[in-house]
Amino acid sequence: MNGFNLEWRDEYLLGIDELDFEHKDLFRRLNELHEELVQDNDKERVSGSLGGIYARLDAHFALEENYMREKKYAGYEQHKKQHDNFLDELREVSDKLLSSGIDIEERNVLESKLQGWVLNHFTTTDRDLPLDDEDD
Ligand SMILES: [Fe+2]
Ligand SMILES: [Fe+2]
Repeated sequence: MNGFNLEWRDEYLLGIDELDFEHKDLFRRLNELHEELVQDNDKERVSGSLGGIYARLDAHFALEENYMREKKYAGYEQHKKQHDNFLDELREVSDKLLSSGIDIEERNVLESKLQGWVLNHFTTTDRDLPLDDEDD
């Protein structure tokens, strides 16, 4: 019984190597986080894992935003806003989870938000990014 397992599919590939590499890596890390959350009620360790995921996402968004600026992508502001809003939301649900003492309900809220947002964003908003060879 595992409602939280992101399965990578090659149809999610954007065709932008450095971003695809990180998308795959993030899927793997979210699955690792799930295993940790299931096995571990230790607040400090969970806090560390959540901080690690936050940092990876933050770094991924920075790379992607840099790519968009390089391509002079018209959708930059809107796309960046989605990244920023999600990081705020993630911080909020992470804090809630930690202050709940790793309550199972809060854990499910966090995981469904995190996995749902990542899957949706990677397969829709990121899908609109200009490809590497489109304008150079
Ligand atoms: Fe992305
Ligand atoms: Fe993105």
